[in-house]
Amino acid sequence: MKEIIRAEDLVLSYGKGNNRRIILDHINFSLSEGQIFGIVGLSGAGKTSLLRTFNLLNTPDSGKIVFDGIEITSLDDVKLREIRKKIGVVFQNFNLFRSKTVIENIAFPLILDGTSKKEAFKKVSAIAEELGLSHRLNAYPSQLSGGEQQRVAIARALITDPKLILLDEPTSSLDPLTTKKILNLVLEINERHNVTFIVVTHEMEVVKRICDSVAFLKFGKIDFLGSTHEFFIKVENGDIEDFGEKIEEEILPELIAEFDKNHIFRVIFWGENTKKPVLWETAKKFDIKINILYGKIEKFKLGNYGSLIIEVEGKGIEEFVEELRNSVYSIEPLRIF
Ligand SMILES: Nc1ncnc2c1ncn2[C@@H]1O[C@H](COP(=O)(O)OP(=O)(O)OP(=O)(O)O)[C@@H](O)[C@H]1O
Ligand SMILES: [Mg+2]
Repeated sequence: MKEIIRAEDLVLSYGKGNNRRIILDHINFSLSEGQIFGIVGLSGAGKTSLLRTFNLLNTPDSGKIVFDGIEITSLDDVKLREIRKKIGVVFQNFNLFRSKTVIENIAFPLILDGTSKKEAFKKVSAIAEELGLSHRLNAYPSQLSGGEQQRVAIARALITDPKLILLDEPTSSLDPLTTKKILNLVLEINERHNVTFIVVTHEMEVVKRICDSVAFLKFGKIDFLGSTHEFFIKVENGDIEDFGEKIEEEILPELIAEFDKNHIFRVIFWGENTKKPVLWETAKKFDIKINILYGKIEKFKLGNYGSLIIEVEGKGIEEFVEELRNSVYSIEPLRIF
């Protein structure tokens, strides 16, 4: 797959002299076209700062950003302006012009670029139709719901036919149903226009529903970089601290109290094998009894993710575990944090 953006050894600091603080510490990653990439981390980790370096709203102290094959960190202002048209941005809290109508807001990047009003408005109509905003074109932002404002912000980012859209906390102020609609919209745009997205979020739901891969930022460093399901396994195992969702943390001690700790395993199902009765088949083969202590299955962007905590009883536990390992994504003795 073609690479769309790459960060090489990015360092960013704020302040000077004694007040200088390193905010981004040697960030490296590469992203393929058409991906949805999540940047997650706690408040203050540097997520917004990182997002703003991708179109050089923040200038890094050192390191490179290569966008669509061009090193943009060394471009002059004129060339950078051209590149920026290919990178749409949706800021934290929408950032719409209060005194402009919806149609004027969405058309703004085109008009700024010298497109005639007639032509710009024609393009807005098409995008507004796609995003379900046609009936609100003459309203002002203050007359819109949060979800509608977010759609206007996304439409404005989409109007210049970008290859990449940067989203900063796109759903943090929305209710669960509106969040779902916005996430579905991002998936649709991603599919229909083959636009790559980089999404900053602190919501696990956003990561699960739309991200192909994830970077976890901690104090300005990438603490994890990889696929969404691998990230989630680490969160559940407690390998990624401070990020909630160690789902069983509260109920776990109670669940396992009366069992031999050596007989308790965490089994992860990923993709196709979430649909097959492999547990039952393997248990039958080795005459093992399985006691399911905890379980769930969730829909991620790239497939179904299942997580089980089981207690096993019988003679051939080791053989059972080894055989099951071939049919599930992973099986490991349960670690208690
Ligand atoms: N313009 C600035 N000048 C100085 N320090 C800044 C500036 N912008 C952000 N910071 C500091 O940089 C650090 C990272 O901020 P950033 O906004 O990137 O975090 P974040 O991960 O997006 O947090 P949140 O989840 O709260 O939005 C914070 O400690 C913040 O106080
Ligand atoms: Mg932020």
